[in-house]
Amino acid sequence: MDPVGTSGVFSLKAALRLCERLKLSAAQTEALFHAMQTGGAARRALILSPKATAKNYQPSFPCEPRERFSWLPEKVLLPEAGVNPVQYADYEAGMYYVLDLSSCWEGAALSAVPRAPERSLDLCAAPGGKTMLLAARFPLQNHTANEVQARRRGILRGNLLRCGVEHTQVTGFRPDQWAEQGEQFDLLLVDAPCSGQSLLCKGISNPGCLGSAAVNGNAKRQRGIMLQAVSCVRPGGHILYTTCTYDPEENERVISYLLRRFSDWRAEDVPLLAAFRSDLCDFPAYRLFPHHGCGAGGFCCLLRRLP
Ligand SMILES: C[S@@+](CC[C@H](N)C(=O)[O-])C[C@H]1O[C@@H](n2cnc3c(N)ncnc32)[C@H](O)[C@@H]1O
Repeated sequence: MDPVGTSGVFSLKAALRLCERLKLSAAQTEALFHAMQTGGAARRALILSPKATAKNYQPSFPCEPRERFSWLPEKVLLPEAGVNPVQYADYEAGMYYVLDLSSCWEGAALSAVPRAPERSLDLCAAPGGKTMLLAARFPLQNHTANEVQARRRGILRGNLLRCGVEHTQVTGFRPDQWAEQGEQFDLLLVDAPCSGQSLLCKGISNPGCLGSAAVNGNAKRQRGIMLQAVSCVRPGGHILYTTCTYDPEENERVISYLLRRFSDWRAEDVPLLAAFRSDLCDFPAYRLFPHHGCGAGGFCCLLRRLP
């Protein structure tokens, strides 16, 4: 039987297999199914832009107390339910960038990067959320926001311009083209293209995202991207790997593949995210599910190359 929710039809069998692979309890399985069927797990957040910080700007609409989420990155605010920040003139004026709270949760892993990178690269950057989170964590010094798809690159450029993100160039190279240029970055953001299973929990149709073809195809591409990404990082530098999908094949297994191949790389602890540690691997990696109440969910792992 295929349950029909706001996000369209998805395969009950495939969803059950996923929950088994994730080793979810009966209650967690039920919660994930409920989120997939109702599509109501999205949770809007906003990141104050460099423009806003320069003006000491605070939004005129009501926001929730930040203290509810101990891991919430600085400069991230949670508009109260019913507020749509995109409708305010301050959005067009570039005071903030709007995204799902789970992306901010992933960005919280940057709290474990000890110092501002001299050179950073957001390898899969459009529409710009992770670059905005990096700009909220550190003043950017020499940042590259890279996006392979031309149309998405235009959107990225527009968002960064609107928000006044400085010291940043926008490029469109493939990961292998970056790798050819050698070890030049202290920090890479790899927000990898993925099967996007969490879209179902936001009420967005994503046919086939639970199937093995989508998952294995994406996992292969993610391993490929990460094999190139490691060649771009200086000794002592970091990669933040993130996805908005649940399948272990695209998450923990991509990281363990990498750690097996490269003895000079380690997965780092992120103390702020300790409560979200994945129990599907023996290295530190972190998972968010809709039942945590912080958006549609995702995965993050901070990797460090030994000095
Ligand atoms: C999850 S999205 C990035 C979202 C973005 N980081 C943000 O926070 O707004 C993944 C991006 O990777 C790009 N992409 C697709 N295939 C790629 C590949 N083989 N190598 C690098 N990037 C790719 C997609 O065009 C897409 O923009």
